[in-house]
Amino acid sequence: MRKKIVAGNWKMNMNLDEGHALVAGILKGLPELNADKQVVIAPPFINIQHTFYQIEDVDYVHVAAQNCSTENAGAYTGEVSAHMIQHAGASYVIIGHSERREYYNETDAMLAQKTDTALDNGLKVIFCCGEPLSVRDAGTENDYVEAQLKAGLFHLHKHQLANIVVAYEPIWAIGTGRTASSQQAQDMHAHIRSVFAAQYGQAIADGLTILYGGSCKPSNAAELFACADVDGGLIGGASLKAEEFLGIIDAMMQA
Ligand code: 13P
Repeated sequence: MRKKIVAGNWKMNMNLDEGHALVAGILKGLPELNADKQVVIAPPFINIQHTFYQIEDVDYVHVAAQNCSTENAGAYTGEVSAHMIQHAGASYVIIGHSERREYYNETDAMLAQKTDTALDNGLKVIFCCGEPLSVRDAGTENDYVEAQLKAGLFHLHKHQLANIVVAYEPIWAIGTGRTASSQQAQDMHAHIRSVFAAQYGQAIADGLTILYGGSCKPSNAAELFACADVDGGLIGGASLKAEEFLGIIDAMMQA
């Protein structure tokens, strides 16, 4: 059985005090999670260790970084390595978010390298993919997303796939209030799973957790998570308010 995950990507929001209060609020209302239903919190780098200390005794809640360096160590001013992230208490790292691809010119080759260094340092990877509106309008979103996954992940060996989570985030739905319909999400998630099945076999594809991201909120999470191939969500805006994030976690618990 593949895992269901609700992950909160805080992006560049929350100072230490605000982050502390948010995590405290989430923990207060958190239902009992289990190995099949987990929560991930991705604060800014500077909050990682503090967030880890807040959640370390809570089962099935994990901390993620939002990015990592392509490099392991050395003279790379301003960079943070996967090793440092892991050492600070994170167990996941988000790689390939569309904001990193677009604003920081992260290429497929860099994302493949980041994935390798993350896995080598014992982190699990939440690998993001998703098409811009122009591609959706042209009807070529399946090919576009497939190419992103092949370039970023398909150099991996089969045994490494257990440490990969895929997040499908259509760019036109991120922060826009415009959610993909559950049918659009399901269609793409099924496509993603079929692409992994063709490369790695059906068993690996069936075990792959595929999250949806893009204006996911308590009011639409249940319908999205009811889709056969949607295994949870990567949440931006709604992860910044404890009650909204908890509402989405509840939708996962009931799915
Ligand atoms: P929103 O939930 O704010 O649309 O952001 C989604 C996202 O980019 C999560 O990584």
